Amino acid sequence: MRIRISPSLLAADFSNLRGDLEKVQNADLIHLDVMDGTYVPNISFGLPVIKAVKRTCSVPLDVHLMIERPERYLEEFAAVGPEILTVHYEASTHLQRTLQRIRELGIKAGVALNPHTPLEGLKYVLEDLDVIMIMTVNPGFGGQKFIPSMLDKIRDCRELIGDAPIEIQVDGGVSLDNMAILLEAGATNFVAGSAIFGAENPQAYIENMRSIGGQG
Ligand code: DX5
Ligand code: ZN
Repeated sequence: MRIRISPSLLAADFSNLRGDLEKVQNADLIHLDVMDGTYVPNISFGLPVIKAVKRTCSVPLDVHLMIERPERYLEEFAAVGPEILTVHYEASTHLQRTLQRIRELGIKAGVALNPHTPLEGLKYVLEDLDVIMIMTVNPGFGGQKFIPSMLDKIRDCRELIGDAPIEIQVDGGVSLDNMAILLEAGATNFVAGSAIFGAENPQAYIENMRSIGGQG
């Protein structure tokens, strides 16, 4: 499976979003972290910002909903036209229904798992999924340190999905320093915020990540 790089806009300069988006036009996706202050102890941005990003940017959007009961807002987020809409396993009581609805809306369905959340439940919804996001930090903030025990979880996830056409996305503390081991463990989709936007040349940083994936 082709590897994909998804810069997280949370680490961009919010007073100059257009300028920062221009620096990552060579990315495969733009990652948008929506935080509600309840599911995670932080509030980020919501629909108006995502709509504005959609208007100024031609890179497909990858929306990560860190909100309680995300099923309440699927139609509104889908209407913006992202490629992927990801909900948290822990935040959606009727997960299978939520995933089905996302797909009905014509969007790829993603599920994110907090570091302590086991993979097991996913076994029964694999057919309803396009992306599994393994959180490699506790969600809520950018710039945190990657949790090394998540490497085993990525390997287990790879084993669980076998040849199914599902992307394994990693989110949190991802950088050029750990990209090779993440790739080796089985990740195919790499979210990185502070590493990319903190780089002197974000575009070159993305190309370097790609070349580690053998696709430079
Ligand atoms: C954390 C978010 C991440 C975050 C990653 O809750 O889901 O997407 O922006 O930031 P870095 O790459 O700086 O860890
Ligand atoms: Zn995220």
